[in-house]
Amino acid sequence: MKKIGVLFGMENTFPGALVEKINSRNIDGISAEFVEIGAIRLDKPPAWSVIVDRISHDIPFYRAFLKHAVLHGTTVINNPFWWSADDKFFDYSLAAKLGVAAPPTVILPHKHYPPGTTDKSMRNLQYPLDWDAVFAYVGFPAFLKPVNGGGWRDVYHVHSREEFFQAYDQSRDLCMMLQRAVNFTEYFRCYVVGQEKVRIMVYDPRRPHAERYVKDPKPAEKKLLGRVERDALKLCQALGYDLNTVEFAVGNGVPYAIDFMNPAPDADLHSVGKENFEWIVEAVADLAVKKAKAAKPKVPEFHWSAYLGAASDTAKAAATAKPAKSAGKAVASKPAAKKASAKKAVKSAKGGQPEATVSAIE
Ligand SMILES: Nc1ncnc2c1ncn2[C@@H]1O[C@H](COP(=O)(O)OP(=O)(O)O)[C@@H](O)[C@H]1O
Ligand SMILES: [Mg+2]
Repeated sequence: MKKIGVLFGMENTFPGALVEKINSRNIDGISAEFVEIGAIRLDKPPAWSVIVDRISHDIPFYRAFLKHAVLHGTTVINNPFWWSADDKFFDYSLAAKLGVAAPPTVILPHKHYPPGTTDKSMRNLQYPLDWDAVFAYVGFPAFLKPVNGGGWRDVYHVHSREEFFQAYDQSRDLCMMLQRAVNFTEYFRCYVVGQEKVRIMVYDPRRPHAERYVKDPKPAEKKLLGRVERDALKLCQALGYDLNTVEFAVGNGVPYAIDFMNPAPDADLHSVGKENFEWIVEAVADLAVKKAKAAKPKVPEFHWSAYLGAASDTAKAAATAKPAKSAGKAVASKPAAKKASAKKAVKSAKGGQPEATVSAIE
């Protein structure tokens, strides 16, 4: 019997639905369950052929277990090695190389020294920084946000130098990026599963959290949706993620990749709505079963270049990305019920007032 395990945190709806969906198919030799682990021994292979990981970004013990599991032949969705190595600045840089539009972005030295470091540790840093050059390149308005962020934590919308410095002063020892704000006409969130299936969801980040997945969006241009889909696939194929949400802000008709390091994307029924929820449960069930059925687990080569997806020639592979079946179609979801748990405030650079609340999963 090949087992598919689901590893999860605070979320309530997706893990159970995924296990049920897989088991309801009554596939010979395949069953799904929640992962249960204690102390992990070096010499014992884990019980699961496939593990769907929804939480190891928050729990180092799980991340270490998953790397060990890969070594012993388990297929983990998503690759825990690349997830550990990834960061958002690298991702924008990669997008630009792949021909996917990314807003002008810089990473900045930490405002405060990371623990255990002093000014002596910083002797390679230019001081003072050439702020004029930074602002000339990025422009205002802009977003100041962490290179390893999620859930809108420590994201600041800044409109001037003064607001920027107020926000930067609050950024503690985080590594922050300053990125030009896209004055968007449309905003999309795309589920990408198995590096081949895409679901484009119209999303309005300017609305209150519970209403962001737009129920009845006005139809978007086919050509634009085609590009969004191709770009979403390109990014996930290059990064090697089998499950991801890719966000695009469309400015002047160009979809700019904004946030595409979401390897445990929000899949909560109450947040994404019924139709999107059913789609993602089905798609991840298909993927997990496909991986479990594979005669031999596909163990990627874990030298650094392999981190950029399975293909050795990342750019070439991405350039030949196939559009998925749903090309040219945007879908909407029902308005979500307000999520009760795991909310974080987005601070405005103006006086640190919360602007919005969102789930902490992404
Ligand atoms: N360059 C940008 N242009 C326009 N909106 C942005 C930009 N960067 C971030 N945002 C807004 O801030 C939100 C949070 O930023 P994001 O990069 O998605 O970080 P997180 O990983 O915390 O979700 C986005 O959903 C979007 O609404
Ligand atoms: Mg985001």
